[in-house]
Amino acid sequence: MRRLLIAMIAGAAGMTGVAVAQEDGLSLLKRHWTGAETASDGLGPLYNEASCHACHWFGGGARVRQRPDGEVAAAGLLVRLTDAAGQGDPHYGIQLQNKAVTGVEPEGVVSLRAVKVLDDLTQFAILLRRRQAPALAAGHIPSLRAAPSLDAAGVIERASEAAILKLHDPDDADGDGISGRAHMVKLPDGGEAVGRFNWKATQPTIAAQVATAFQFDMGLSTPLYLSRAGDCTVRQTDCLDAAKASGAPDIDDQQIASLTGLVQSLSGTADEAGLPSSAAFQKAGCDSCHVPSLDDDPAASPPLYSDLLLHDMGPGLTSHGGEGDASAQEWRTTPLVGWRGHIVGHRYLHDGRAANIDEAIRWHGGEAQRARDAYLAMSAIERLELTAFVQALLTAMPLPPIVAEAQ
Ligand code: HEC
Ligand code: HEC
Repeated sequence: MRRLLIAMIAGAAGMTGVAVAQEDGLSLLKRHWTGAETASDGLGPLYNEASCHACHWFGGGARVRQRPDGEVAAAGLLVRLTDAAGQGDPHYGIQLQNKAVTGVEPEGVVSLRAVKVLDDLTQFAILLRRRQAPALAAGHIPSLRAAPSLDAAGVIERASEAAILKLHDPDDADGDGISGRAHMVKLPDGGEAVGRFNWKATQPTIAAQVATAFQFDMGLSTPLYLSRAGDCTVRQTDCLDAAKASGAPDIDDQQIASLTGLVQSLSGTADEAGLPSSAAFQKAGCDSCHVPSLDDDPAASPPLYSDLLLHDMGPGLTSHGGEGDASAQEWRTTPLVGWRGHIVGHRYLHDGRAANIDEAIRWHGGEAQRARDAYLAMSAIERLELTAFVQALLTAMPLPPIVAEAQ
């Protein structure tokens, strides 16, 4: 089946060189890294999963199944532990690792229960069983993040900084009740760039996020993060002792480039011809944040339906902790293009709490409160028109061959 896929990719790209790079990217996405004492790839000592694929199944995102009794089975969800200042827990670090190599205790195990809250919306309660001794430090409250589908990443990366910064309006100078701001992040060379990836726009490029995933989700070192200890803190001496001391990084630049190329190739251009009417979407003001396209020139900027800015979404969507400059209630407007609407088990919002588009909208608060209220004030028919439009957008991008094969 693998050979067939490559033939399809090569046919589409018309270039053998590209096909080889993509094959490498796909095998890297699926590769199961090891931290065994013999023949170790450098996985761990602490890690969340041994492959990208475990969380981003064929380039998709987290998959969640909610049982009638409220128990939640999920792949691709992880728990962040930052405080309001964006600092990790002094013992556990920035996220909880539920796995570890032989000889090191994992930090803990998490189980999730769906609980009904206000307006019959469902939220996930995080039940954390620690495997290491200390309790979480004050102010560090566990907060879930779902692996996003990688379907929009290629389009996100193509948006120009100028186009994003044109919409930056931190003090709501235009008085529309919406004050999005760009998340400026520091670069290793001391410069700054607009953060655009992840739920809080913490990373400027796909390559930087791929290196971050290797370091924090898998405990593998890269030229960007030379530490072999991943998310171990100075207090976790068993983890530090188990980390390999020296040598070249576990992952080289070529491997980062292959994976980056694969991620870019997962995005196509959403086909807007034949979509249902967007009138209700515009009437509710969804397009103030979910702006259809960032550049005036549609050729330079395919549809994205995001301003890529941070917005305060109110207390219902708080993560309790911040990340970088982003506060607990701030989130990057999620792009509404992609093919994730096709994926079984795909859910919405940063922790996957919303089972469908209607629930996702009803969780909108803060700067999006007006749009949510406008949606709720619509007739049932108009609400259906609105959600049908969003649903169609989320399936308007062609499925890349590797995903089509996996279906
Ligand atoms: C344990 C699960 C897990 C693993 C393993 C994992 N990821 Fe992720 N990925 C996530 C989560 C969760 C996020 C969102 C993180 C955030 O918001 O800070 C994410 C975000 C991303 C993004 C940003 C997407 C966007 O549009 O904002 C990319 C790209 C990505 N991951 C690629 C990878 C690659 C490549 C690998 C393997 C090297 C990988 N991930 C491994 C869970 C995972
Ligand atoms: C003030 C800016 C803003 C407005 C207005 C707004 N949104 Fe959002 N939207 C966001 C942000 C930020 C998120 C991410 C929130 C999170 O994950 O916690 C989001 C997430 C979503 C999601 C979930 C996407 C996914 O894949 O997880 C959907 C669907 C959505 N919005 C639809 C709408 C619709 C429909 C409207 C109009 C009724 C609307 N939004 C109005 C900012 C906005």
